[in-house]
Amino acid sequence: SKDRSYKIAVIPGDGIGKEVMPEGVRALEAAASRFGFSLDLQWHDFANCDYYAKHGQMMPDDWKARIGDVDAIFFGAVGWPDTVPDHISLWQSILQFRREYDQYVNLRPVRLMPGVPCPLAGRGPGDIDFWVVRENTEGEYSSIGGHMFPGTEREIVIQETVMTRHGVDRVLRFAFDLARTRDRRHVTSATKSNGIAITMPFWDGRVEAIGTEYPDVTHDKYHIDILTAQFVLNPQRFDVVVASNLFGDILSDLGPACAGTIGVAPSANINPDGTSPSLFEPVHGSAPDIAGKGIANPVGQIWSAAMMLEHFGEDAAAAGIMAAIEAVLATPEGRTPDLKGSADTVTCGKAISEAIAGA
Ligand code: NAI
Ligand code: MG
Repeated sequence: SKDRSYKIAVIPGDGIGKEVMPEGVRALEAAASRFGFSLDLQWHDFANCDYYAKHGQMMPDDWKARIGDVDAIFFGAVGWPDTVPDHISLWQSILQFRREYDQYVNLRPVRLMPGVPCPLAGRGPGDIDFWVVRENTEGEYSSIGGHMFPGTEREIVIQETVMTRHGVDRVLRFAFDLARTRDRRHVTSATKSNGIAITMPFWDGRVEAIGTEYPDVTHDKYHIDILTAQFVLNPQRFDVVVASNLFGDILSDLGPACAGTIGVAPSANINPDGTSPSLFEPVHGSAPDIAGKGIANPVGQIWSAAMMLEHFGEDAAAAGIMAAIEAVLATPEGRTPDLKGSADTVTCGKAISEAIAGA
């Protein structure tokens, strides 16, 4: 907002979500005082499995009113499969936000950071730096279709891909706009028009059409099968990669995996039109295997705070957080055990916040 004051719903969730969220908030507060904006943080105790145990549902019926008119949602991780099945805990929380707030872009950075061992041989920090933009509301994940004659020899299942010009154009424009903010100004489109011969040629045609609106941005396309191979073989080729819901789902896990560990990867579910709030979260889940030990890596949560600030237009603060993350990851004392370091969650988080304050 113009007055540089941001109202944020803070929802820690379950497991390590409750441990990494305070570090995400610590980093936000450090950035606010260092870069001169103000925060109104509103913590919510729903969208977690303890709430479910008490109320028989993950969120109150009036969750939308309780969250109210916020600039963004800062989310931890949800899920506790020992007590609540995952399809209930996720569908009744995070998936409600994505849908009800029309967060039609899922955005994930693929960036190799210092101190993070790269699973791809011979690559170092700086070698991999691109974004995956996933269409988040339509495409292959539709509820149009049906199941007939179940359990018989005549059994039929059909699920249709739904692409609308409105839905495709808006995610493509987001990708081209993002490319404009980058040095290389290049968009790669994921397609499969050689096999999926109706929707994917339509997608390709919209890429051409939207591309003409951006003469300063170059674009190319790859079929999804070879594109996944190129993520591994030649990740340096990519700048902004845009994909339909299914292809983007795969690429948005593959990309960050090529750049290292799940503990550092962030994700944003964005409503670029600003008609409702966007949501920022780490990629990882609630990690029941390490929850309660205080050793979770807080970097994914903190990096998602940087994405949130960038979304607000607080670019200097976002860059300050990223520089602080890089400085702390470069030292074994700053890193958590998943990165072969000796820090616990709070030590790592405090080191990053101190680096932000001194930026
Ligand atoms: P997970 O991401 O929670 O954990 C996978 C593995 O990575 C575990 O060994 C865990 O210890 C490790 N790990 C994850 N984050 C880490 C961190 N910050 N620092 C160090 N190690 C970390 O995925 P999992 O185990 O499949 O799912 C656990 C629960 O989380 C389930 O209920 C699942 O549905 C939920 N989940 C929720 C998500 C969300 O809230 N958006 C996303 C993914 C899973
Ligand atoms: Mg996925």
